[in-house]
Amino acid sequence: MKVAVLGAAGGIGQALSLLLKNGLPAGSELALYDVAPVVPGVAVDLSHIPTAVSVAGYGKDDLDPALAGADIVLIPAGMPRKPGMDRADLFNVNASIVRTLAEGIVKNCPKAFVGIITNPVNGTVPIVREVFKKAGTYDAARVFGVTTLDVIRAETFIAELKGLDVSEVKVPVIGGHSGTTILPLLSQVEGVEFSDEEVASLTKRIQNAGTEVVEAKAGGGSATLSMGAAAARFCFSLVKGLQGEENVFEYAYVEGNTGDAEFFAQPIRLGKNGVEELLPYGELSAFEQKAKDDMLATLEKDIKEGVDFMA
Ligand code: NAD
Ligand code: LMR
Repeated sequence: MKVAVLGAAGGIGQALSLLLKNGLPAGSELALYDVAPVVPGVAVDLSHIPTAVSVAGYGKDDLDPALAGADIVLIPAGMPRKPGMDRADLFNVNASIVRTLAEGIVKNCPKAFVGIITNPVNGTVPIVREVFKKAGTYDAARVFGVTTLDVIRAETFIAELKGLDVSEVKVPVIGGHSGTTILPLLSQVEGVEFSDEEVASLTKRIQNAGTEVVEAKAGGGSATLSMGAAAARFCFSLVKGLQGEENVFEYAYVEGNTGDAEFFAQPIRLGKNGVEELLPYGELSAFEQKAKDDMLATLEKDIKEGVDFMA
């Protein structure tokens, strides 16, 4: 198993690479790519951890060898938000970074599973699709916008509020990854009752959790450690699927079949081919239905921005 992390010297990249060094199956290869000159040092640092995962660092001119033969590519490269910014404000800078990296994937590992973390995810995932389509290598089952952070936040906040064991709490989160496009389905959390006030305030907190971190870091960036944990969780599920394990389920922003928007986070079953099955997100409460209806125009606009960038 070869996993490439693009943007590996950044806040997310380093946290994620640490978790992968400790958690990938024995014999795996971790390829760390970044344009920042510190990346070989990050690789040397990680290589001193005694696990059976090899680590190699690749600098800015070495995207091709970093990607050659990769089974999984995770992309946290690009600029994070500062207070007062929306994720959409990152589009101009991050769109071309993602395009270049996607072109590298086409050239070196067109069959890889690709997890896109770079914001705005609502628009960067369509860019990757367009690059792959142009090259004739697009397979919707292999391209994922990573929205796992929304899921782990929802699980954490609900467990805290209700005094539950967080490992037992499962929360569907559908839609996109910004503001109101993030839609937790609290009506589907098993064994937990919420008042209307709790639904309203929890939904808002989950939607604004990224901003909560951006403000707390006060100009020092956005979520990195929790995102590293979220991306590692998603990557380990991809690995399990690739290894033929059954019943591996996640939520991700994919070109799916909900009929809501071209790209939409929905439940998926993972396997050797990536998305083995697109699953329905089930029945929505009146609150969730309205929230979904209200956010679709924003999500469609974000998707169009990504498609138009490549046109
Ligand atoms: P960071 O600034 O700490 O790290 C970004 C890294 O990307 C840097 O090391 C930089 O050198 C590298 N980079 C820039 N251009 C590159 C290129 N062309 N090729 C390779 N590497 C390149 O930022 P961060 O906090 O790690 O955040 C990274 C991105 O992830 C941001 O866009 C942020 O908004 C996004 N993010 C997404 C989620 C999510 O849930 N999907 C969560 C948190 C952050
Ligand atoms: C998050 O949800 O924490 C990330 O998308 C980063 C951000 O800008 O909020």
